[in-house]
Amino acid sequence: MSALTTRRFLQTAGLLMAGFVLAACGKKEAPAEAPAAPAASAPAAAAPAAKVYAVGTDAAYAPFESQNEKGEIVGLTVDVVTAAAKKAGIEVKFVNTPWEGIFNSLQQGDRDMLASSITITDERKQTMDFTVPYFDAYQLIAVKADSKVAKFDDLKKLKVGVQTGTTGDEVVTKQQGKNSTNIKRFESTPLALKELEAGGVDAVVADNGVVINYVANNAGAKFKTVSDKAFAPEQYGFAVKKGNAELLGLLNKGIADIKADGTYDQIYTKYFGAPPAAPAAAASK
Ligand code: ARG
Repeated sequence: MSALTTRRFLQTAGLLMAGFVLAACGKKEAPAEAPAAPAASAPAAAAPAAKVYAVGTDAAYAPFESQNEKGEIVGLTVDVVTAAAKKAGIEVKFVNTPWEGIFNSLQQGDRDMLASSITITDERKQTMDFTVPYFDAYQLIAVKADSKVAKFDDLKKLKVGVQTGTTGDEVVTKQQGKNSTNIKRFESTPLALKELEAGGVDAVVADNGVVINYVANNAGAKFKTVSDKAFAPEQYGFAVKKGNAELLGLLNKGIADIKADGTYDQIYTKYFGAPPAAPAAAASK
């Protein structure tokens, strides 16, 4: 080998060695650098998380919204909202919210929407916007099995329990007058029904679904129900803050989709044993 060749060889070898060393270092350091990898995709992770809509519900209203043994909020309302939200591509989370402050929580922006077996009324429409109806209901009277009450009119002079601020409260207040001391108002419908069982009131007026469910699950209370054509038909809707057209549109689309593909009827059947006689969809305005 000439001196030149030798030098070249050594230079080349040196470069190769350096290369090996670098490669080795690189390899060795690879694990240490691994945590840096997610950092590279950090911009994606840092992107704003999808909004989770807070759904206010008074979860003392089985079979529509109630808490199971694990404290989870369950029921027809939960299933309908969840299925509709999925179709609309939005995420929701239920927040137990006392009925008493439920409309205020929407007004204040603490809740994005309300799903609580809320009857769509002209009065409520002044202060909030409603989706298309998702459930048909009417008022039903609960009395002790041996009661002589046979129609709504028979309650005029009796002590009647209602949940404060509900449509049941409204009809009884209209019948007995604002100042009637015979109307006993409770913060939940089950509390009113317990008072009926205890004999503190002569009757309870509340939504049919909840009354029927309570009577069925509390045989020991010895109640019967009395229906009356005098009660106007009611429809439940989900409420959003007045003017929240974006969320309203998403929910209406979701409700329409689950009614169209049979999901709604499936949910209804899960809770009531059969699909609705005339789908609530037909009544949507
Ligand atoms: N439908 C009735 C109303 O809107 C009663 C609803 C009560 N809902 C409840 N989760 N407590 O006035």
